Amino acid sequence: SDVFTYDPGFTSTASCDSTITFIDGDKGELWYRGYPIEQLAGQSNYLEVCYLLLYGELPTAEQMQDFESRVTRHTMVHEQMHNFFRGFRRDAHPMATMVGVVGAMSAFYHDSTDISDPWQREVASIRLIAKLPTIAAMAYKYSIGQPFVYPSNELDYASNFLNMCFSVPAEKYNVDPALARAMDRIFTLHADHEQNASTSTVRLAGSSGANPFACIAAGIACLWGPAHGGANQACLEMLRQIGSVENIPEYIARAKDKDDPFRLMGFGHRVYKNFDPRAKVMKESADEVLDLLGIHDNPTLQVAKELEKIALEDDYFVSKKLYPNVDFYSGIILEAMGFPTSMFTPIFALSRTVGWIAQWKEMIGDPQNKIGRPRQLYVGSDKRDYVELSKR
Ligand code: CMC
Repeated sequence: SDVFTYDPGFTSTASCDSTITFIDGDKGELWYRGYPIEQLAGQSNYLEVCYLLLYGELPTAEQMQDFESRVTRHTMVHEQMHNFFRGFRRDAHPMATMVGVVGAMSAFYHDSTDISDPWQREVASIRLIAKLPTIAAMAYKYSIGQPFVYPSNELDYASNFLNMCFSVPAEKYNVDPALARAMDRIFTLHADHEQNASTSTVRLAGSSGANPFACIAAGIACLWGPAHGGANQACLEMLRQIGSVENIPEYIARAKDKDDPFRLMGFGHRVYKNFDPRAKVMKESADEVLDLLGIHDNPTLQVAKELEKIALEDDYFVSKKLYPNVDFYSGIILEAMGFPTSMFTPIFALSRTVGWIAQWKEMIGDPQNKIGRPRQLYVGSDKRDYVELSKR
């Protein structure tokens, strides 16, 4: 009979080889195509990082200009999609709307769903990167009952997203360049993370030959969970619930209690066992943004800082190598920018879309690619005979 390796949670199984992203969990290193995340977050910008992830090299000035114009040409969504949004409950969570709308893109853009055609694959990739901010902003506007704001191609990627989220027809809204820069950095820090749960979901969905819009919708659905991308919303809600510094010990005790399902959200990582390099950059960014906005006595930030300090010195967290992850500080920046918690995970989703696509493209182009089909260890009932209803 067949012999399988039993590896629940895939803690020691490599599912593919990849040239895109490298993580060294012990050293706290993350590289996209060989470039350290700190350098990309500090010196590059999100669209350039998109190019790097998709095509493997940093673009020349000409390649960058061409890429930018291809992306901006696709930022609008089909007008008919507005009707699709309007079918959702008015207070729907933006992630719920996004799972549906992105899945439905294969119905609206079926001229780029033939994955055997490299040109269609390319168009689908650009459409996804260009339209995800528009879709996320529309999901937000819909959830708060404001009119949709069309994309503006004279703005850069991050400024355009902020404009679509925060401007209203009645009033002129000027995007603060420093906030746009912080937004762009958040996008960059989330752009890819090798074979995490949502990326593996995208690859598994794609391994059957499903179209890229369907695959990305699957990735968004997986990302939503609180152990993954949903942790940024859960973390800020937890910080608010803790409320003040005096209550921290109670929550620390709960996180350590085996009989209590409560975990410190924004803490711990499957791969990083020393620190999460994204969290380090995010923390600096949080300080910058709060300074910029003149927010100095934010109680959530105080709780976050103190919680981090206590946890980093606590035996339980030290021995289990639990450190703040990317989701710990991102929420503080997003809240300061004016986003409600329900938008945190959609922002993660739109940032990660490029990583999902790069990974999907790599898989499709790999001659070794075959359908993902894990095996199992069957531990159910032995073979038995059916019993008539009247005899049970
Ligand atoms: N608070 C308290 N205890 C924890 C935590 C936490 N946040 N995370 C892990 N532990 C404990 C866990 O109870 C277990 O203890 P024991 O060995 O006694 O059973 C041990 O640490 C190992 O945990 P695990 O769940 O087996 O580890 P994992 O690699 O399967 O899970 C994780 C990693 C990120 C899902 C987990 O640390 C967690 O649930 N963290 C909170 C949610 C979170 O912040 N997620 C965001 C992850 S980073 C960005 C992203 O992926 O989106």
